[in-house]
Amino acid sequence: MAHYFENDDTLRRNEMKHLVQIKGHDFSFWTDSGVFSKKGLDFGTRTLLDAFLEENRSGNVLDFGCGYGPIGIAISALTDSIVTMIDINQRSIEMAKKNAIQNNVSVTIKESNFYENIESTYDYIVTNPPIRVGKESLYHILINAKDYLNDGGELWFVIHKDQGAKTTARDMETYYHVEIVTKNKGFYIIRCKKK
Ligand SMILES: C[S@@+](CC[C@H](N)C(=O)[O-])C[C@H]1O[C@@H](n2cnc3c(N)ncnc32)[C@H](O)[C@@H]1O
Repeated sequence: MAHYFENDDTLRRNEMKHLVQIKGHDFSFWTDSGVFSKKGLDFGTRTLLDAFLEENRSGNVLDFGCGYGPIGIAISALTDSIVTMIDINQRSIEMAKKNAIQNNVSVTIKESNFYENIESTYDYIVTNPPIRVGKESLYHILINAKDYLNDGGELWFVIHKDQGAKTTARDMETYYHVEIVTKNKGFYIIRCKKK
C-alpha cells in the first residue's frame, strides 16, 4: 500500500469537504485519498494549532509537510503571519492550494523534498512531521530546521508518546533549547528554540 507521502497518480480520487472550528473560527477543508488524515483535522494537528495560537505569535512561518493545509491556512487566517507551506506530495499541494482559496488566505505553497526548495529563513517552522518515513528522515527534518530559522526562531512540532516523543525531545536538546509546551492524550507539543 502506498504511503500518504508518496506520489501515486493511480489512487482513485475521493474528495471530501470537512467543516472545522479552530479557535472559534470556521474553516472548510477539502481532503482526498492519498493525503494525510483525509477524514478531517488530525487530533495531533489540532493540539499543535491550539498551543501555537494560544499566544499572539506571528512572523514569517514555514508549514513543513503541509498536507491539505490546515496548519498554514489556520495560522495565516488567525495571525498576521506571512506563511509558506511545503510538501513532497503533489496531491497534498493541490488540495492545500484549493483550501487556501476556499478559506480566503494568501499563502505561498510549493513542492519541496525536505528543504530543497527553501531559500528563506523563518521566525517559526511549524510541523506535524511525517513519522512513517523513519527516524533518520524525521531527525533530518527536525535538526535541519535550525538552518532555516532566524535568530531566536522556533521549531514547533507534535509527536505522540508512542512515536518516541520523550526521546525525540531529549535528542533535540543537542541542537535547541527544548520545551514541552503541553501534552494531550499522548500528543506532545515540543518547542525548539534556536540556540
Ligand atoms: C503527518 S502529515 C501532516 C500533514 C498536515 N500538516 C496535517 O497536519 O494534516 C506529514 C506531511 O509531510 C509530508 N512529507 C513527507 N516527507 C516529506 C519530505 N521529505 N519533504 C516534505 N514533505 C514531506 C507528507 O506528504 C505529509 O503531507
